[in-house]
Amino acid sequence: MAESVTITDNRNGESIEIPIVNGGVDAGDWKKLLGNTWFYDPGFTQTACTSSAITEIDGDAGILRYRGYPIEQLAESSTYLEVAYLLIYGELPNAEQFETWKHEITYHTFIHENVRKRFMEGFHYDAHPMGMLVSAFGALSTFYHEAKDIDDPEVRNKQIVRLVAKVPTLAACAHRFSVGQPFVYPDNTLDFASNFLSMMWKVAEPHYVPNPVLAHALDVLFILHADHEQNCGTAAMRVIGSSHPDPYSCCAGAAAALYGPRHGGANEAVIKMLNEIGSVDNVEAFVKGVKEGKGRLQGFGHRVYKNFDPRATIIKKIAYDVFEVTGKNPLLDIALKLEETALSDDYFISRKLYPNVDFYSGLIYQAMDFPIDTFTVLFAIPRVSGWLAHWKELLEQDQKIARPRQLYIGAEERNYVPMVSR
Ligand code: CMC
Repeated sequence: MAESVTITDNRNGESIEIPIVNGGVDAGDWKKLLGNTWFYDPGFTQTACTSSAITEIDGDAGILRYRGYPIEQLAESSTYLEVAYLLIYGELPNAEQFETWKHEITYHTFIHENVRKRFMEGFHYDAHPMGMLVSAFGALSTFYHEAKDIDDPEVRNKQIVRLVAKVPTLAACAHRFSVGQPFVYPDNTLDFASNFLSMMWKVAEPHYVPNPVLAHALDVLFILHADHEQNCGTAAMRVIGSSHPDPYSCCAGAAAALYGPRHGGANEAVIKMLNEIGSVDNVEAFVKGVKEGKGRLQGFGHRVYKNFDPRATIIKKIAYDVFEVTGKNPLLDIALKLEETALSDDYFISRKLYPNVDFYSGLIYQAMDFPIDTFTVLFAIPRVSGWLAHWKELLEQDQKIARPRQLYIGAEERNYVPMVSR
């Protein structure tokens, strides 16, 4: 059977045969026959906006791989910093490359004093940390003027290092400010996740040492969240990057996309939902309400995964490691009952709705004492490496500026009416 489709323009009988390559067809071939006829695809559910060698997802089989490596192996054996290197540079680092990378990231964790004192401390006392982080990315673009020179690979790399290194500092700074606590400077003797925990929780002790189980759990969560191919935030990164601004401005846009409850904001929404349900006894009534259209089951469903989200499977296991240290999150029983009820209900089965990465991550964050409004910030910290991997790839591909078409459904041409006559 030919791996191709034939399209015939019934207006003139002309045809074109287009090969199906890797499950898709090239719009360039379509254009040869039907140059002025566009696809209508709101939400890009059927449109590949790029080729990419970074992350592979097979939604039906529940497969997620970074640069070919299964997520399960990376979560088991790697570290977030190593994974960030893999995503950005394409290969796992050897010992020397890793030492250099680790050193660079460790020594770029500090932020300019004006970012903290003038900018971050200028927010209203109850500012949402994610709003602060979105703005901080944009602000950084005004501190590093050379970042605009995106054609220079060395300059590009410098900004990559700065962004990966500084995002935990900005995130912790946003949190400390929002709870009225003094800023904690990075501790370069700690690993990536432990340093972040130190900046979050250190009080008066000279050297903060986090619980290793919790630091490891956080590092695994960072690995799981580092990239997920063309999701809303990464697509935003690529769209913005295609007009060639500096990477800080791109990250501000990507982080804004991540902020929403349909995307990275879902982990926050899950906890709010579980609190609203309040008790295991109320789960069935809640699920009935969802089926009747009264809201969605937060942390369920995914545009790509239609079997299971492999990240959710790993996270569920880590949750138990964390609860051994912190004690069980009281919302866990509600979550388990909710999962069990939904997974045996035809509404969810027929729509292929399964727990996604956010369903259990919020429970872990909450057990580790992170305030709910820092959850999306915790997602953004590692996702920066994925955004930058895509930004670098986009520039190396020299891709055209993103400029989708639209189906115009507005008024026909009409004449301006003076205000007195309206
Ligand atoms: N609860 C109840 N029904 C749902 C849900 C849900 N969570 N998700 C989808 N549906 C239903 C939806 O109502 C529709 O039903 P029908 O065909 O009868 O109209 C059907 O399933 C298909 O939904 P869709 O909105 O067309 O699916 P989508 O691919 O556009 O949306 C999604 C994907 C993740 C936005 C959606 O599933 C959702 O809103 N989930 C809850 C929010 C969430 O957990 N987001 C985190 C996603 S994973 C992390 C990340 O990428 O940031």
